[in-house]
Amino acid sequence: MKRLAILGSTGSIGRQTLDIVRAYPDDFEVFALSAWSNRDLLLEQAREFRPRYLYCQEQPSADELPDGTEAIGGIVEIATHPDVDLVMQGMVGNAGLLPTLEALRAGKQVAMANKEPVVMAGALLTREAARCGGEILPVDSEPSAIWQCLQGEDVEKGVRRLIITASGGALRRLPLEEVAKVTPEQALKHPTWSMGKKITIDSATLMNKGFEVIESHWLFSMPWERVDVVVHPQSIIHSMVEFMDGSVKAQLGVPDMRLPIQYAMFYPQRLPCEQAPRFDPIAAAALTFEEMDPARYPCFVTALEAGHAGGTYPTVLSASDEVAIDAFLGGRINFGDIHGVVTATLDRHESTADPSLEEVLAADAWARETAREIVER
Ligand SMILES: NC(=O)c1ccc[n+]([C@@H]2O[C@H](COP(=O)([O-])OP(=O)(O)OC[C@H]3O[C@@H](n4cnc5c(N)ncnc54)[C@H](OP(=O)(O)O)[C@@H]3O)[C@@H](O)[C@H]2O)c1
Repeated sequence: MKRLAILGSTGSIGRQTLDIVRAYPDDFEVFALSAWSNRDLLLEQAREFRPRYLYCQEQPSADELPDGTEAIGGIVEIATHPDVDLVMQGMVGNAGLLPTLEALRAGKQVAMANKEPVVMAGALLTREAARCGGEILPVDSEPSAIWQCLQGEDVEKGVRRLIITASGGALRRLPLEEVAKVTPEQALKHPTWSMGKKITIDSATLMNKGFEVIESHWLFSMPWERVDVVVHPQSIIHSMVEFMDGSVKAQLGVPDMRLPIQYAMFYPQRLPCEQAPRFDPIAAAALTFEEMDPARYPCFVTALEAGHAGGTYPTVLSASDEVAIDAFLGGRINFGDIHGVVTATLDRHESTADPSLEEVLAADAWARETAREIVER
């Protein structure tokens, strides 16, 4: 039985992880749960799963907790607890960096949905994982697809390129002149996936796809020029790998995050995932591909530039994007301004090469403050 720590248990990834635990109660023990603002749901989850520990921003009092559950001092304590076998990292944003880093330093397996820490500090995380025996298991559907395609392959010598697929997000068909003024409600209507708000907006700007290129660069040690992106509106092919002989492997399935979540939880075993609908090729009918239009998705272009530039630029990219999305969802800026806030913050930044943890955290704090000033103006 694996003892699980679920970070971000009240979110979309966290709730779907608990669905898998419900289906396989003899394989997993929910050892600890963490959330942020959704205390009621966290307590409901605690009553159902009886974790040893939980954590949220406003900690519950002892009489609110079910028997056998204690509030613990912080998320890092959960992620590094000696009794934890697998950390499901379902937090959103750069706040996930420290728990991820410390879990890897403690030699844990971290099932990683929370892509922002890999974007902001990919070199640091992969270096520390290798040094301390920690392991990052991809959960994000595109890196998971690549990981699945690479099983049994010679990654160093056999792979020509990775091909990441993109649905194109909620606004793919909207006339370009209307995109800048869409409302949060419009941008939150993802055509194929049901996810948390931040990643849904990142999917509409396609910042998310830039993040996945950066994520794949680090997780699979793949040079930038060998990671391509193609628009695939049906979200059935989750990504592909082209090999040296010209063969291409693709991983297909219905767009349901329980599949990659469960794959990481049982890796390398495959078991039935009864909750997800089965793939029907006849119903899927056509699988189509289109070239990415950079004019429609300037955030994607900026993300790649920041990734290639390296240093603390990717940290600033991710932090300023969080601030800009928060401002957009709060009605303080337009959708079209998200890109402007991110680029204006990046333009003011003086990057540090090969940053330490302290330098990454300093760049993150600087970027948040700078992006907020830009939003205010
Ligand atoms: N959802 C998907 O299908 C999907 C697919 C691929 C990748 N991902 C990635 O997975 C991550 C989670 O996405 P999601 O859609 O599940 O997000 P979500 O629904 O917004 O959930 C985020 C979780 O993180 C917690 N959280 C928020 N801010 C926090 C903070 N400052 N400190 C600690 N915990 C905090 C939230 O707690 P409260 O709810 O209590 O506030 C919630 O439990 C993201 O990085 C996303 O890019 C998601």
